Amino acid sequence: MCGIVGAIAQRQVSGILLEGLKRLEYRGYDSAGMAVRDQADGQIHCTRRSGKVAELEAALGQQPLQGSLGIAHTRWATHGKPEERNAHPHLADGRVAVVHNGIIENFEPLKNGLIAKGVEFASDTDTEVIAHLVHDKLNQGVEFPEAVKQTIAQLDGAYALAIIDQQQPDLIMAARMGSPLVIGIGIGENFIASDPLAMLQVTDQFIYLDEGDLAEVRLESVSVRNRAGEPVEHEVLRYEHGQDATDKGEYRHYMMKEIMEQPAVVEAVLEGRLGKEAVLEQAFGAEAKAIFDRVQSVQIIACGTSYHAGMIAKYWIEELVGIPCQIEVASEYRYRKTVVLPNSLFLTISQSGETADTLAALREAKEAGFLACLTICNVPGSSLVRESDLSLMTNAGPEIGVASTKAFTSQLVALLLTALVLGRRHGISAEQESELVSALKRLPQQLEQVLSLDSAIETLSQRFADKNHSLFLGRGAMYPVAMEGALKLKEISYIHAEAYPAGELKHGPLALVDKEMPVIVVAPNNSLLEKLKANMQEVQARGGELYVFADQAAGLDNGEGIHTLELPHVHSLVGPILYTIPLQLLSYHVAVLKGTDVDQPRNLAKSVTVE
Ligand code: AGP
Repeated sequence: MCGIVGAIAQRQVSGILLEGLKRLEYRGYDSAGMAVRDQADGQIHCTRRSGKVAELEAALGQQPLQGSLGIAHTRWATHGKPEERNAHPHLADGRVAVVHNGIIENFEPLKNGLIAKGVEFASDTDTEVIAHLVHDKLNQGVEFPEAVKQTIAQLDGAYALAIIDQQQPDLIMAARMGSPLVIGIGIGENFIASDPLAMLQVTDQFIYLDEGDLAEVRLESVSVRNRAGEPVEHEVLRYEHGQDATDKGEYRHYMMKEIMEQPAVVEAVLEGRLGKEAVLEQAFGAEAKAIFDRVQSVQIIACGTSYHAGMIAKYWIEELVGIPCQIEVASEYRYRKTVVLPNSLFLTISQSGETADTLAALREAKEAGFLACLTICNVPGSSLVRESDLSLMTNAGPEIGVASTKAFTSQLVALLLTALVLGRRHGISAEQESELVSALKRLPQQLEQVLSLDSAIETLSQRFADKNHSLFLGRGAMYPVAMEGALKLKEISYIHAEAYPAGELKHGPLALVDKEMPVIVVAPNNSLLEKLKANMQEVQARGGELYVFADQAAGLDNGEGIHTLELPHVHSLVGPILYTIPLQLLSYHVAVLKGTDVDQPRNLAKSVTVE
């Protein structure tokens, strides 16, 4: 959940590293630092600051770091408070500098061993042991690459590492185990980063390291060994998303830009995947047909927003395909004994493709007897994509705002395509499929219509800014939509938000309802509308204030205690995609009114690569 970058070049690298950190700040933003080797004096100079990358930038503006070899880091604290002394890079005796993303689980015994040898520690981090372990071996006369190799053999846990040695002007050692790491290939210069986005300003050619890989990154060459110590040749892949994707454009926040991109994103997920009247199965890869022919049940695993997408997919799969579908959050699933149904497809959903719990669950599943593993993912080349049998990319482009928006809607579209290709093997008629394909094709334009409600939603948001609690209600597949709405509001506005299936209201949460507890309802015109209206009356009868996003035909008006915003009529199965949008806009505007850090809410990080 930290971001690391490194650069070796024939030019000054501090600007490249700083730009890389800014692009990685979504991964963590409680402190930042940079270490650069100055060829003039042969020393490693290091600057670190608590707070955001801007603090580091200001410090470097006062006192620039000179040199053509360097590493840098933006931190999401795990061990040790977010203070300057815990910021990376960590140095050992001025000679070795390390940046790390991950958690070293056995750092305490390693640290105790070093303390017994007289080593003094300057931080509370797990990472600092790595610097001292490498330094200890260098002191014993071990060559730098070998010292790193021996050190990582001592580590338990997860790491992406970049390490430099003051005496090696042409070498960055990079290692990956459990945390993402790529090598950017330039001309006469090379880079490393947690995410290709960080280095798009200097290259679009990347090597994606595998688990256990150890790389020597030099000015003119990159060599990689796998965990068995054998040399491996990884393909150099061109990064495909447009470079301007990391630009905020006309928007004040990435989140708003990403919300507004959703019609185009839905088009991008559908592109090349729809025939005139049916989903094109080839989109899932050459082996998909043989696998899909055998699927009799689905197990979905994901975290956070992606989990909510999976919950909606469960409704679709059971309704359209008619086979059992189970869903669980990855952090629970991976630690319990589970029963694998025969011919079960293991389906992971992830924006980043690097979420530690989801990845660990996939690895467990591969040993557990599933028919095959499919991932719905937004990042090509990510760990989940590489380790799954099948993948369907969501093509949403880089999502920078920590609060997931366009990734969610693109996942939903991809999941609906998946339900359709499975469904045609279990009784969906060609007419039904064609009807849904048409509904999907109409969706981008309908999303535009919903986005045009932005200023009405902004006005509504003023009624939330002074509230401390809120309740989100939905029924059927709109219940996970309500959950996603509640997650958005809590993560960026810090207002406590809970979601309930509306029918559960009278079983407890109704006790909370009063004027200070806004109740947000998603009310499409489906078979559950009348029941939902009854639930809304339960709220009104207790003096509660309702905010309803409703179908034009739902027959709900504005009145005392009820504020209704009408949405276009959509096919009921596509409804969850459409009804997500107003909830995203509402959270956004409430957060802006409250003055929170919309794109980088406190305590969170975009890519959760630690468990
Ligand atoms: C939601 O806004 C968050 N960004 C978070 O819940 C996220 O969806 C979760 O951490 C899973 O991430 P992934 O999709 O990259 O696996």
